[in-house]
Amino acid sequence: MREALLFILLTGVIPSARADDCQARSFGHGSVVCVCNATYCDSVGRTGLPDPGQFLSYVSSKTGSRLVKSQGQFQKNSTGAALRITLNPSQKYQRIKGFGGAMTDAAAMNILSLSSGAQDQLLRQYFSPDGIEYRFVRVPMASCDFSTRLYTYADTPGDYDLQNFTLAEEDVHMKIPLLQRAQALSAQPLNLFASAWSAPAWLKTNGALIGKGSLKGKPGGKEHKTWAQYYIRFLEEYGKYNLSFWGLTSGNEPTAGEMTNYSFQALGFTPETQRDWIALDLGPRLHSSSFPQTRLMILDDNRLLLPHWAKVVLSDVQAARYVHGIGFHWYLNNIVPPGITLTTTHHLYPEYFLFATEACAGWSPLDRGVRLGSWDRAEDYAHDIIQDLNNFVTGWTDWNLALNQDGGPNWVKNFVDSPIIVDSSKDVFYKQPTFYSMAHFSKFLWEGSQRVGVSFSQHTSLEVSTYIRPDASAVLVILNRVGIKKERERKLHDLLDKRDARTTKCLGK
Ligand SMILES: *[C@@H]1O[C@H](CO)[C@@H](O)[C@H](O)[C@H]1NC(C)=O
Ligand SMILES: *[C@@H]1O[C@H](CO)[C@@H](O)[C@H](O)[C@H]1NC(C)=O
Ligand SMILES: *[C@@H]1O[C@H](CO)[C@@H](O)[C@H](O)[C@H]1NC(C)=O
Ligand SMILES: *[C@@H]1O[C@H](CO)[C@@H](O)[C@H](O)[C@H]1NC(C)=O
Ligand SMILES: *[C@@H]1O[C@H](CO)[C@@H](O)[C@H](O)[C@H]1NC(C)=O
Repeated sequence: MREALLFILLTGVIPSARADDCQARSFGHGSVVCVCNATYCDSVGRTGLPDPGQFLSYVSSKTGSRLVKSQGQFQKNSTGAALRITLNPSQKYQRIKGFGGAMTDAAAMNILSLSSGAQDQLLRQYFSPDGIEYRFVRVPMASCDFSTRLYTYADTPGDYDLQNFTLAEEDVHMKIPLLQRAQALSAQPLNLFASAWSAPAWLKTNGALIGKGSLKGKPGGKEHKTWAQYYIRFLEEYGKYNLSFWGLTSGNEPTAGEMTNYSFQALGFTPETQRDWIALDLGPRLHSSSFPQTRLMILDDNRLLLPHWAKVVLSDVQAARYVHGIGFHWYLNNIVPPGITLTTTHHLYPEYFLFATEACAGWSPLDRGVRLGSWDRAEDYAHDIIQDLNNFVTGWTDWNLALNQDGGPNWVKNFVDSPIIVDSSKDVFYKQPTFYSMAHFSKFLWEGSQRVGVSFSQHTSLEVSTYIRPDASAVLVILNRVGIKKERERKLHDLLDKRDARTTKCLGK
């Protein structure tokens, strides 16, 4: 059946307020976390396909449902439905690459602070077929703010040939073993992509990893060549541990080091200097290395810089030939509509994929750090992901895979939130509502799923994104942030608790 008619009133049936297997705990922030330890963790399990004529629904709600599964029947007669959603598979948009998070130093330290049994549970939650099946992992190259010290892999001044390039303890003893374990749990090869925060201080105008500074000299010069070679050396060293990289970004948040006296690791580029460094140094070096297939993403900074940044880099044929995609971050998304940034960029450069490379809750000075059980943050995630996907984005990467209860460690105290918060004193970890927001996408939107058209029988404030997967099944991801309208409230009274008004659903045909 290619054309699915779905009745929201039917799919809104929520079996009961509580999921049977989430060990729910409230910390007073709107909803609950699910508590996991070395021997127990709720798990979505493997999702099959519904019987013919049926659909499967997975619901997470503010009252504590977490991917609660039910099966329902498509109705032949839709006349009585309050809202009819019609898929139009002949309207085809982008294909999905996937979803994931970042193996920062902080994430690795937090995971390893648990007992080995709890570590396994946590990794299974993200990467295994029983978990939410992340396909992407962003790997910082050397230190960033989510580190406990400042370092790069080549801190010997004057080492232009990178003879003393060495991975750090954090790589060899923390991130790499965890990435290998994650890979072993994953049914498919993980797509790793690397991002660097700062070049070694001796290559930089300011002689420091932090603050305002860029590479000395000019693109094509020896500092710029060494910095390109640093990326190749990184790929070589990780290769020795059987970890190969799907992609690279041209560097984390280049505007941070360009425009401001930044408080943590940064390396400034303008769109023009990034373009020229790619055209003259990074692009040719990567192309002639043992890793020519590595996908290069430009920008890796806030989307409000689009489409300008893409225009500067990609209108240059010398740079553009080495570029595959455009990575961007979610900060400040509220001040720029996605249409004029993402969709405009897509239409200008349809052959370059758009990919969300970093996002986290709890970064804003007004709402900082960890909030255990925050439902608003789960909605923020789902809202942003749907908005991105409905504007041609092909994947979405969360920030730290795990943080401690302070939202760190972070050497500049730039504490934020994470979908998994670890309490090593109790050997437990908490799966936040945002973990399930990620799951509603990562578990169901397999690589190659194609976004398709959708229409509604009447105006709706539901946020919806619709797909046909490679196996020809249909997926709808629905976010309901609007609350139940008065007239519908009575009808639904027996079925829905009022507090269940905010639900996200994923339906597999
Ligand atoms: C782990 O969690 C389960 C379920 O909540 C509980 O029954 C068990 O006692 C916990 N184990 C430990 C060691 O606390
Ligand atoms: C569809 O249902 C409506 C009421 O819900 C009814 O009036 C109508 O006759 C039905 N149509 C068919 C073709 O069964
Ligand atoms: C590399 O480090 C060693 C000491 O570990 C030092 O003797 C050597 O000079 C360094 N090489 C370069 C090129 O900096
Ligand atoms: C890498 O993989 C090969 C072949 O699977 C294996 O023989 C080798 O031991 C692995 N090396 C490391 C460092 O894991
Ligand atoms: C930049 O910030 C640091 C503190 O993070 C401060 O010590 C330094 O003076 C500042 N530099 C400038 C040029 O403002």
